[in-house]
Amino acid sequence: MKLIGPFKQVVTLANLPLRGKLSDDQLEIIVDGGILINQDKIQQVGNFEILKSENQNIEIETIEGEQIVLPAFVDSHTHICFGGNRANDFAMRNAGKTYLEIAESGGGIWSSVQHTRNASEEELLKTLLERIDFLIDLGITTIEVKSGYGLDVENELKMLRIIKKAQAQTRATLVPTCLSAHLKPRDFEGSNEEYLQYILSEILPKVKEENLAKRVDIFIEKSAFQPEESKDFLLKTKDLGFEITVHADQFTPGSSRIAVEVGAKSADHLEATIDEDIEFLAQSDTVATALPGASLGLGERFTPARKLLDAGAILAIASDWNPGSAPMGNLITQASILATFEKLTTAEVLAGITFRSAFALGLDDRGRLGENLKADFVTFKTNNFQNVLYNQGSLKAEKIYIDGNSILK
Ligand code: NIG
Ligand code: FE
Repeated sequence: MKLIGPFKQVVTLANLPLRGKLSDDQLEIIVDGGILINQDKIQQVGNFEILKSENQNIEIETIEGEQIVLPAFVDSHTHICFGGNRANDFAMRNAGKTYLEIAESGGGIWSSVQHTRNASEEELLKTLLERIDFLIDLGITTIEVKSGYGLDVENELKMLRIIKKAQAQTRATLVPTCLSAHLKPRDFEGSNEEYLQYILSEILPKVKEENLAKRVDIFIEKSAFQPEESKDFLLKTKDLGFEITVHADQFTPGSSRIAVEVGAKSADHLEATIDEDIEFLAQSDTVATALPGASLGLGERFTPARKLLDAGAILAIASDWNPGSAPMGNLITQASILATFEKLTTAEVLAGITFRSAFALGLDDRGRLGENLKADFVTFKTNNFQNVLYNQGSLKAEKIYIDGNSILK
């Protein structure tokens, strides 16, 4: 057993509901608090001095100066395993070039596919681990990572095996997702339906055999996969035993409805979701995931997070870190900016990057500070937890704890 503290404020996020709007007076804030750890789990959270007197002869890890502590953050949507760089896409887009012009000049998702296919495994693993370390430094200890830049058996498996290797070399939890249905690759000879069938018969059985991912994602959009073929594909992946998540309603509405109908764990993007579908999502257990990093990377509207919360949806916020639409990777900055544009309370943002995004990944053992939960948390050198979002990402995390032990920075 070990007691860590004292903290000026312990923001537990305990007792907050899974869905719907939150006000900041619902937040439980323990002043002069401590966290009692038993192995890799939290045993108790409470007043530091009381915990100390009730638990004599245990190790005390003293916190110097004024610090606050929050549950560690969860980024439930990233594409951080990739080769190359798309800075030229970004520059061209800002110079007024269209999606088509960028793709024709060698940019777009296809260019990341070629760079990822051509990259050595060592290089892909090294850059993936660097990006994981960047996220850990922000206080993020659970990270979803998608494939989707391989787009054939060999290269999708290569990506997922690298993600598995990265898991053996990091203390963060990685949650791999198979996104072979990102786009039909240019070198696939056949229709969209045939490519989706190829994923079902050639890729997913191997993913299962090697235990490389338990989740499957698809990009439903005019430029990628169409609603009907996608629905059919998703129902079949479900029959194979995979959990489902969907890139939905990014530019055109309609696909979040499919995500709900097939029982997806989450529908992500939703920038173009119409009011009727907001209601539909809100009445389901499918998490609505806002990806403000993609809005900022593309100069597009934000996900209607306020409306989703008011309707009672489970709103998560994730980075979508990828080389094309969301190159920033700083989830704290992005979530803070989403809050200013969508008028989200601090409680709603913190819930969106902790237990609500954990729920999207099927994880109920983290994202709050309470008994028996995974001892992952993040401290900041400040006396007021509001400063974390107020500083829009420029207040750096002081210490990051995983399974009760701090990561040395
Ligand atoms: O989530 N929308 C589709 N896929 C990614 C973009 C990937 C890329 O541009 O490389 C996204 O924004
Ligand atoms: Fe994405």
